[in-house]
Amino acid sequence: MRERGCDSNVRINSIKPKNPEMDLSLAIYVLAFFPTIFALDNGLMKTPPMGWLAWERFRCDIDCRHDPKNCISERLFMDMADRLAEDGWRELGYIYINIDDCWSSMERDKEGRLQPDPQRFPGGIPKLARYIHDRGLKLGIYGDLGTHTCGGYPGTTLDKIHTDAQTFAGWGVDMLKLDGCYSNSTEQEQGYPLMSKALNATGHPIAYSCSWPAYQGGLPPNVNYTQLGEICNLWRNYDDIEDSWDSVLSIVDWFSDNQDLLQPAAGPGHWNDPDMLIIGDFGLSLEQSRSQMALWAIMAAPLFMSNDLRTLSNNARAILQNKVLIGINQDPMGVQGRRLLKEKTHIEVFWRPLSDSASTLVFFSRRSDMPYRYRSSLGKLGYKAGNYKVYDVFTGQTMPALTDTTNFTVSINPSGVVMWLLSPTKLWGREGEHPSLLHNHVEEIVHPILL
Ligand code: GLA
Repeated sequence: MRERGCDSNVRINSIKPKNPEMDLSLAIYVLAFFPTIFALDNGLMKTPPMGWLAWERFRCDIDCRHDPKNCISERLFMDMADRLAEDGWRELGYIYINIDDCWSSMERDKEGRLQPDPQRFPGGIPKLARYIHDRGLKLGIYGDLGTHTCGGYPGTTLDKIHTDAQTFAGWGVDMLKLDGCYSNSTEQEQGYPLMSKALNATGHPIAYSCSWPAYQGGLPPNVNYTQLGEICNLWRNYDDIEDSWDSVLSIVDWFSDNQDLLQPAAGPGHWNDPDMLIIGDFGLSLEQSRSQMALWAIMAAPLFMSNDLRTLSNNARAILQNKVLIGINQDPMGVQGRRLLKEKTHIEVFWRPLSDSASTLVFFSRRSDMPYRYRSSLGKLGYKAGNYKVYDVFTGQTMPALTDTTNFTVSINPSGVVMWLLSPTKLWGREGEHPSLLHNHVEEIVHPILL
């Protein structure tokens, strides 16, 4: 049943730790005890979903004759399922294999149902779903509320919503991304809630990703985030990600500039989606790849990789498989983080409160000259008096404890980040504890399911 208690949005919204005077511990307390409570009634995605999504890397490549390894076909999804299952991804939480646009035939079948392209999906979707389920994974599919998908394939008009929900459920699909090309705002207003109901009515748990807000400009009053939280598990708020650093930056800027409106919308079962991870593709340097992963963890973002898992570099793999970082993204409290500071020096500081009084800080450099030595203290960043243990998420080092007044300096590479996991020392056991024990403890604090 959907709970309806106090309006926690108001409370979360009232906490805007943008200035050094804020008291983060109060924020953590309030956020922990008044989590956002509106949620789609399917029990899914209590933490941000993780997996792989075809679109950014493989687009609408349907030329299987000349490009059999990369075209949108059952082979591509089976290959990626093998990689998720065999290369350690699944155990880390990357469990969705998601088909995007261009999978279907240009015509519906005689009964008016969507059908996959017979050449590219000769086994049909149920067989692919079985292949994926047999590997302990879940299958996502793409539809579009409108006459056509964005790529020009058959869309789901209002009269087809029930049929398509039934078809997807019958195929064993576990997630639907419903895009919004070729529909108007009235159709979207009717269609997105209707699909939510139709999916629930199938009796098969199907997570629901809505592109609706992206078509409404992403912000209230056009977007009603309370309603979205009631009907969708996640939603695309903003533009499509492209394989470039500029694209990542424009997304980070938009989400940060509008964080007062967006942050309260996220919570267990309902997430803002800044779009796919492009780590392992062509557009990001190593530093930029670390930055995307760190900032997506701050934003409590869904982690859908869109890359070629068959040829991924070790550097990209290490970033995407960083257990502590994933644990931070997956924190069960599910509070989206915020940009705290935008310094004149082009350093930005981001923060996210985590369960068990832990928190994470990301120091992000927008500079393009050389590593910048940024000086601060936890007190200046709003932490209350106390001792904090600091774990550096990318170097894996535990640092000497800091008090709120200790001045520290972090060296941040151009377009890179330094990412810290912090917790009050009382949670960390004795001073001088063996580092490997401390490391285990980090996982215990931030990601119990990894143990
Ligand atoms: C839109 C979506 C993308 C992708 C394409 C497919 O642009 O925002 O994520 O699904 O359509 O055509």
